[in-house]
Amino acid sequence: MVRLRQEQKSAVLRRLAQGHGFAPVEFTAEKSEKVWFCGCKRTAKPPLCDGSHKKS
Ligand code: FES
Repeated sequence: MVRLRQEQKSAVLRRLAQGHGFAPVEFTAEKSEKVWFCGCKRTAKPPLCDGSHKKS
């Protein structure tokens, strides 16, 4: 298993996002609560799900 430092992880994510139109979005939890992250890329409030995945 390869362990990466946070800076290395960010660099890898940036490289993976190039050419795909997607970019990493930083998220800092400001309080302890349950949230859902968007996995469909349709949300208007990245990185959180706003329910847009339910629309066809
Ligand atoms: S998973 Fe993308 S809007 Fe809900």
